[in-house]
Amino acid sequence: MNLNQLRRQIYQLKKERNAIILAHYYQRPEIQDAADLVGDSFALSLEAAQTDAEIIVFCGVRFMAETASILSPDKIVLLPDLEACCPMAEMAVAEDLVALKEKHPHAAVVSYVNTSAAVKAESDICCTSANALQVVESLPHQTIIFCPDRNMGRYVAARTKKEVILWDGYCATHDHLTAEDILAAKQRHPRAVVMVHPECRPEVTELADYILGTRGMLELVSQSSANAFIVGTEAGLSHALYKAEPEKTYIFPSSRLICPTMKLNALERVLEVLETLEPRITVPADIQRRARKALDKMLAVR
Ligand code: 13P
Ligand code: SF4
Repeated sequence: MNLNQLRRQIYQLKKERNAIILAHYYQRPEIQDAADLVGDSFALSLEAAQTDAEIIVFCGVRFMAETASILSPDKIVLLPDLEACCPMAEMAVAEDLVALKEKHPHAAVVSYVNTSAAVKAESDICCTSANALQVVESLPHQTIIFCPDRNMGRYVAARTKKEVILWDGYCATHDHLTAEDILAAKQRHPRAVVMVHPECRPEVTELADYILGTRGMLELVSQSSANAFIVGTEAGLSHALYKAEPEKTYIFPSSRLICPTMKLNALERVLEVLETLEPRITVPADIQRRARKALDKMLAVR
């Protein structure tokens, strides 16, 4: 089957089944093009909570599909490749979080959405790259356990008066971007604006003109009069950047800015899951109920 036939079949089946395809910006270009909504973690959570579709095909990683199932427990949520997990989410285990909470009984737990449903269930509130600081500031607590991204936690800690207790997790894709990578790119493109994701190390974010999540980066390139951007995030974002502002130049400062698990979902598998309605992502009722509270609280922060 060629690409056009595949696209047509997916489109047809999606309509017949009342399904919606959600895709993160780090997905392969052909998946982004087949999706009903391409977005950052926040926009995808919002759409998962609000859609009228009966079936959600989640082209992202497992925690995103779990989030969709937590927010819409009556819908069928399909993940094209069951191996598509987020290595950072796996760095936080619910039992360890419970033990840390016992050590700091007055602290609130803010969990990045890149966590398992079980970790969300042990959290007071969730956050994404788009609202981490806002979420921390929305709480009455003076001490915050920030889980699991130590880099994003440091980014927040530098901008709040609250005490932030860091979890030692990280996204390997963003964490291995170095200050030298940025300096070398700046030397080659001295007029380019530097924007990096808050999942990057502090010595990298220090060199940036802007520290933004994926959606923030897209907004910046559309609003800015600059013509060239050094982009410190996963390379999949280039597809949306070129679609938004095709005349501008995007420089990825390292060839290793690729999340291998985000790339596991293939368009052929999207068609297969629509045909078989498997594999489904579900969350046990007790965890779903508790995790939902943390997600709903985040969605209410404006
Ligand atoms: P955002 O798109 O929310 O910035 O998330 C980045 C990410 O790493 C998702 O896995
Ligand atoms: Fe997880 Fe990083 Fe991949 Fe996002 S890019 S899914 S945070 S490993």
